[in-house]
Amino acid sequence: MDKILSEHRRTIGDFEVIDVDESEIARLRAKLEIKAPCDINWTWEYGSEVAELRQLYEKGKTAQWNASTDLDWSIPVSKDDWVINPEGSLFANVLKMMGKDEATQKAAAFDELAFTVSQLLHGEQAALQLCGQLTNVCDKMDQKWYAASQVIDEARHVEVMARFLSEKMGTIYPIGGTLKVLLDMLLEAQGMNKKILGMQTLFEGMAVGIMEAMRQECRSPLFDRLLQLTGQDEARHAAFGVLQMRRVVADATPEEMADMEDWAFSILEALNANQQLDMLHVLGPKYGIEPDAVVQMMTSLPNFAELNSIAYMHTVVPNLRRLGLITERTEPRWRELGMMVDSRADRPQFELPIAGG
Ligand SMILES: [Fe+2]
Ligand SMILES: [Fe+2]
Repeated sequence: MDKILSEHRRTIGDFEVIDVDESEIARLRAKLEIKAPCDINWTWEYGSEVAELRQLYEKGKTAQWNASTDLDWSIPVSKDDWVINPEGSLFANVLKMMGKDEATQKAAAFDELAFTVSQLLHGEQAALQLCGQLTNVCDKMDQKWYAASQVIDEARHVEVMARFLSEKMGTIYPIGGTLKVLLDMLLEAQGMNKKILGMQTLFEGMAVGIMEAMRQECRSPLFDRLLQLTGQDEARHAAFGVLQMRRVVADATPEEMADMEDWAFSILEALNANQQLDMLHVLGPKYGIEPDAVVQMMTSLPNFAELNSIAYMHTVVPNLRRLGLITERTEPRWRELGMMVDSRADRPQFELPIAGG
């Protein structure tokens, strides 16, 4: 299997990165129309066939919230405050090491956050579109109902993040090149199983990990509430991925398992290979930060894997492992690239938000 974006790979130190040049990113961004032929499945079974999905759908209905009224939009968000703890900001840490003053560190951390939330926003748009595909491609009514409930969740996430960025942070940064390529791949993926593996298991799992990591460092009550409400929905979405994929892997042949294992690795490997270069190219020059130097420093840290793997180890890696989609065959690669560490690998997983309240 060819590596994703192989023509945009180079090494920084010992680490192979994906670094898409500006003109190519512009071309990728300008590609608005994605050809994604999608099977539409009727079903005449209107009763519930998959009780756990029906339960998740019910849970989704009672957990709805309103982005207009359930957040206090009067709370200000300022560049002069730490929205996220300085320890949680790559730019703040680097600028501190460079001896820059606190105001500069704060401003850079603010820009970094706006960039990161912008990428989440673009991911939310992809989730919205992909979930719409799931209402068609899924063949059971429980799946269709669940997917339909997720469509409104994702619309709300797009709404809340776009409003937070434009009203409170002042900028929506355009999508990074690597992310655009990967999201297009998910939207173009054929069949229900790959779409669910790609969006629900890989990207929803990453979103849960990233949002939880941000929330732990968050100092803004408005942003904290946004992350809390959105994160609750994302946990339900990741749960759908697991419930569905458990049934898929139970019926898969060894060849199909190997194919899914390789595909999951190739997608997240590409995401990891960007090492924030898309952001570093956009924001680095403003603060005198040299992108390659930062990547070189980060990837050669003795605790690189512990730091780098936080978002992966939160949900997606443990879930893939339990699904049998990270085996002895690929595990060394996950470790080698700093996407998997021992310390958190045995966290209890499948914490599905359907039991109890
Ligand atoms: Fe979402
Ligand atoms: Fe989601």
